[in-house]
Amino acid sequence: MDTSGMRMSYERGELDEACATDKPLAMFTRWFEEARTEPGVEANAMVVSTADATGRPSSRVVLLKGFDESGLVWFTNYHSRKGRELAENPRAALLFDWHWLQRQVRVEGQVVQVSPESPTTTSPSAPSTRASAPGPRRRAR
Ligand SMILES: Cc1cc2nc3c(=O)[nH]c(=O)nc-3n(C[C@H](O)[C@H](O)[C@H](O)COP(=O)(O)O)c2cc1C
Repeated sequence: MDTSGMRMSYERGELDEACATDKPLAMFTRWFEEARTEPGVEANAMVVSTADATGRPSSRVVLLKGFDESGLVWFTNYHSRKGRELAENPRAALLFDWHWLQRQVRVEGQVVQVSPESPTTTSPSAPSTRASAPGPRRRAR
C-alpha cells in the first residue's frame, strides 16, 4: 500500500517560541493540562521505549501515574519484556503523542526503581526515567 499521499494539514500544533519557556517541566505541565482537557486525548498515555543489552529496541504504551520536578512515574511488571530490558539497560525514551493537538513531548533518560509508596521524580528538563521497586509494579523517573 502506498501511503505517501496521506497527509493532514497541521495547523494546531505550531510551536510559538514566544510562548515557550526555558523551564521544560512548566511547559510540560501546561501542555499536559491542555491535553488532559481536550476531548478524545488520553493525556497520560505514553510510549515507553527500551532496548536490551544488544541495543534491540521495543516500544509499548504505558500510563503515566504522576510527575513532578524529580521525575515521571509509571508502573509495570519487573518480569515483563520492558522490565527485563531495563534490568539490562536502564536507559529509556518516553513519548507523549498528543496527536489530536498535533503535539508530541519526548523525554529520554535513566530508569530507576522506586518504592511503590514513595513519591517519584524525573522532569522533562532533567530527563531520567525510573522503574520501580521489587513487586509487580514499576515506575519511571
Ligand atoms: C492504553 C494502554 C495503557 C497501558 N498501560 C500500561 C501500564 O501502565 N503499565 C504496563 O505495564 N503496561 C501497560 N499497558 C500494556 C503495555 O502496552 C504492554 O502491552 C505490556 O506492558 C507488555 O509490554 P512488554 O512485553 O513490552 O513489557 C498499556 C496498554 C495500553 C494499550
